[in-house]
Amino acid sequence: MSFTIVEQAPARLNRSEQAVPGSNTRFLEKAAQGNADVVFLDLEDAVAPDEKPQARKNIIAALNDLDWTGKTVSVRINGLDTHYMYRDVIEILEACPNKLDLIMIPKVGTASDVYALDMLVTQIEEATKATKRIGFEMIIETALGMANVDAIAAASPRNESLHFGVADYAASTKARTTNIGGPNADYGVLTDADEAGNRDYHWGDMWHYAIARMVVAARAHGLRPVDGPFGDISDPDGYKAQAMRAAVLGCEGKWAIHPSQVDLGNTLFSPSEKEIATAKAILSAMEQAKKEGKGAVTLNGRLIDIASIKQAEVLVKKAEMIAGM
Ligand code: GLV
Ligand code: MG
Repeated sequence: MSFTIVEQAPARLNRSEQAVPGSNTRFLEKAAQGNADVVFLDLEDAVAPDEKPQARKNIIAALNDLDWTGKTVSVRINGLDTHYMYRDVIEILEACPNKLDLIMIPKVGTASDVYALDMLVTQIEEATKATKRIGFEMIIETALGMANVDAIAAASPRNESLHFGVADYAASTKARTTNIGGPNADYGVLTDADEAGNRDYHWGDMWHYAIARMVVAARAHGLRPVDGPFGDISDPDGYKAQAMRAAVLGCEGKWAIHPSQVDLGNTLFSPSEKEIATAKAILSAMEQAKKEGKGAVTLNGRLIDIASIKQAEVLVKKAEMIAGM
């Protein structure tokens, strides 16, 4: 281990992160009754400019009047380059002290963006004598944000999670694609010809680098990496494939931009019974190895060692959190 100990953000389930437009009161009510681990009430891109003041009012009423028990609640504020943002923060935090868990910062570009918001939130928390400290979740969705991802992740003790905002990221990097978060038929490789001259074309994952890069920055700073939206709400299999590859790379969850994606996220980012059983078997085999003074043993024909304990503990802890909901 390094002498530098990575402090972990507060442990929360973040398997599904549901986006709900603040302009739609019926959707807000439904989300409060739904199953998402985290719900973010949106003031940014799902809300038209003329609707922003009313959406703020709806969100204040939703935070104060609806029952959000069992969920983490976040508000996605407008970008720091807009004049909406300061009112989003001040009006909501002043009207709802101790109600909100997180603020989601869209299109974060530099560590100073986070610092500026930290200053504002800290002042409001002091003035309102709020006892619940707001955490930050940041969307990495611009080339600038990705270039500064490590500094952003380290920018505030309020930071809890990084999110891959694939739609804006595609726009910012001028990627040649128009779907939201799916694969692209033009991103692939052609195999060499076999003896009969046949060649295969394999689709690749054009978002692989971005997600893997974000995961590393998040984990190096004790934050949760979360994969963003998948736009084709009529394609649960497509959602599943995108979610699983994000889970394999280390993401803790994925956005749900439609209620039908919430249960998918919860299931796909929960360890399976088989994984939990294997993790528990690893822990007991290593416990036995310790008693016998051994650092490594074999379990079902595979070598396991002290690193395996940590992997297994992560899985078992997650399963316990889910069971304790
Ligand atoms: C999310 O905000 C995205 O741009 O994908
Ligand atoms: Mg976006």
